[in-house]
Amino acid sequence: MTFPSLFLAFFLLTSSFSPLAAGSSAAYPIIPGTVDTSVSAAPSDDLIPVRREVYDDGKLFDITHRYTSDMPVWESDDGLGQFLWLPKSMKNGSLANNSEMKLPTHTGTHVDAPGHVFDHYFDAGFDVDTLDLEVLNGPALLVDVPRDTNLTAEAMKSLNIPQGVRRVLFRTLNTDRKLMFKKQFDTSYVGFTKDGAQWLVDNTDIKFVGKLLGLNNTSIGP
Ligand SMILES: *[C@@H]1O[C@H](CO)[C@@H](O)[C@H](O)[C@H]1NC(C)=O
Ligand SMILES: *[C@@H]1O[C@H](CO)[C@@H](O)[C@H](O)[C@H]1NC(C)=O
Ligand SMILES: *[C@@H]1O[C@H](CO)[C@@H](O)[C@H](O)[C@H]1NC(C)=O
Ligand SMILES: *[C@@H]1O[C@H](CO)[C@@H](O)[C@H](O)[C@H]1NC(C)=O
Ligand SMILES: *[C@@H]1O[C@H](CO)[C@@H](O)[C@H](O)[C@H]1NC(C)=O
Repeated sequence: MTFPSLFLAFFLLTSSFSPLAAGSSAAYPIIPGTVDTSVSAAPSDDLIPVRREVYDDGKLFDITHRYTSDMPVWESDDGLGQFLWLPKSMKNGSLANNSEMKLPTHTGTHVDAPGHVFDHYFDAGFDVDTLDLEVLNGPALLVDVPRDTNLTAEAMKSLNIPQGVRRVLFRTLNTDRKLMFKKQFDTSYVGFTKDGAQWLVDNTDIKFVGKLLGLNNTSIGP
């Protein structure tokens, strides 16, 4: 059995050469209604869950959005809805709590598997396990992109991404608009155009996930 994609909690290292790589949680919007515990963790003897996003003095960032029932899912107005159940509960006499999750693999922070958009790859079993973790993890350059455009070749060119940079994170209008916190899927999200992605491949050292795949299709969600 193969899975078209699987959500991944992946970590990115910020690089010391990047003036744009923030050393604090400013790099990442805090989920509304939650406390930013990224810098000073609560004392461990307090039973307060610590949900950190920044580790090792800003060298490691957890860029995964927390799954919530109100987060958007592809082309739906209703959001994710209930995705978590507790069929075994200590309060109900079980030895341990045991949760169950059910959600589309294309939800939230995730990478697409090669088989996601190419059926012959799906049939051949190119699931997320075929992605190269060496490509996915490591120092990344965080770049604020112009807010008045999609990620076109022209926009990519204007960023002057230095040679040697192998991973880049784009902070876009999607972040400003907090699209990940809006239940209703917004089709006007900023994404890559084909020429924008192609420009990066042709002119920088950035290698996209799925070296086998080439770059016929790239997109980023909200
Ligand atoms: C165990 O489940 C109960 C609900 O029955 C919940 O209140 C509690 O927080 C859970 N404990 C853990 C460790 O998840
Ligand atoms: C507790 O267990 C009973 C019996 O198995 C079940 O009917 C009920 O739904 C459970 N309640 C919760 C909150 O898990
Ligand atoms: C990006 O493209 C989408 C889809 O074509 C469009 O709705 C949106 O307005 C564009 N965003 C910008 C900032 O140009
Ligand atoms: C990508 O596009 C090229 C040319 O259109 C085609 O030859 C190639 O097979 C495509 N790659 C995939 C993975 O579909
Ligand atoms: C990208 O994917 C879409 C949807 O599967 C497909 O219609 C389109 O032809 C693909 N583009 C390229 C360049 O392969």
